Amino acid sequence: MPGSRFLRTVLSGLLAALPLLVLPLAPAGAQPAEEVPFVVSPDNVTLEMLRLAGIGPGDHLIDLGSGDGRIVIVAAQRFGATGLGVEIVPELVERSLRSAREAGVADRVAFRVQDLFATDLSPASVVTLYLLPEFNLQLRPRLLQLKPGTRVVSHDWDMGDWTPDRTTVVAVPDKKVGLEKSSRIHLWTVPARVEGLWCGTGLLQGSSLRLAQRYQVFEGTLLHRGRERPLQGRVEGATVRTVAGRYGELALTLAGDELRLASAEGVLALAKGTTFRRSTAASCASG
Ligand SMILES: C[S@@+](CC[C@H](N)C(=O)[O-])C[C@H]1O[C@@H](n2cnc3c(N)ncnc32)[C@H](O)[C@@H]1O
Repeated sequence: MPGSRFLRTVLSGLLAALPLLVLPLAPAGAQPAEEVPFVVSPDNVTLEMLRLAGIGPGDHLIDLGSGDGRIVIVAAQRFGATGLGVEIVPELVERSLRSAREAGVADRVAFRVQDLFATDLSPASVVTLYLLPEFNLQLRPRLLQLKPGTRVVSHDWDMGDWTPDRTTVVAVPDKKVGLEKSSRIHLWTVPARVEGLWCGTGLLQGSSLRLAQRYQVFEGTLLHRGRERPLQGRVEGATVRTVAGRYGELALTLAGDELRLASAEGVLALAKGTTFRRSTAASCASG
């Protein structure tokens, strides 16, 4: 029975609260062995997914496994976005196209009979998912390659050790799967990849910024005139932002191969007027 695996997964996830430890993962490069059945995100969950993504008229949403098309259609109708739904069941794609015409958004949305794993995600500024844990994990490397700032929203399932930036819970009194009468909605913002060595320019010529990154969290050191100042913080899309500490705080924005100063306070204001360039050298000219 196609839905039984989904139901078992939901039940085991809710009971154990550790679904990723009890479910086998698909081998790298392979598609998950199990199928995801058609279960809709209820209206209040759909709205919360879009609200959490902060979706608006400038956004292009891709729903992976779009079912009856509701997420893409609501994104266009209520929030002015454009969108694409990909779905392997042709009847659901036909239904989505009909609903899009009825909702008056057929010119701003598209639906394709297509395997979600064969979908080009690069045009998306928002990706939505209501799949299974192993599907999310299989997609995770590709999601992390998307443009910094792209938002990823998943109904119920997380991304393993890529912890969400936010999670909200919505009441779903008539939920058919699982024991809880609620849905979890997780949001991630794709972080820029800033790991490595960055060399100062201008007033900070010879200074260096060395960063180690794990998803959207980083720690590192600013080396200036022989003094090391430890830094830690988060990568918020294209912006690297330190937590405020005894040396003040710093925000830098990635543009190509440069980290440009967005703001600086306290001792870290010494970085004002400077830009750091990505370097593959072992160290910057002098520290
Ligand atoms: C749980 S439903 C979610 C539907 C919709 N996104 C929503 O939230 O209302 C998952 C959908 O993914 C589709 N699906 C499963 N595997 C797929 C694949 N490999 N490629 C495209 N669609 C797939 C299923 O047919 C199903 O309609």
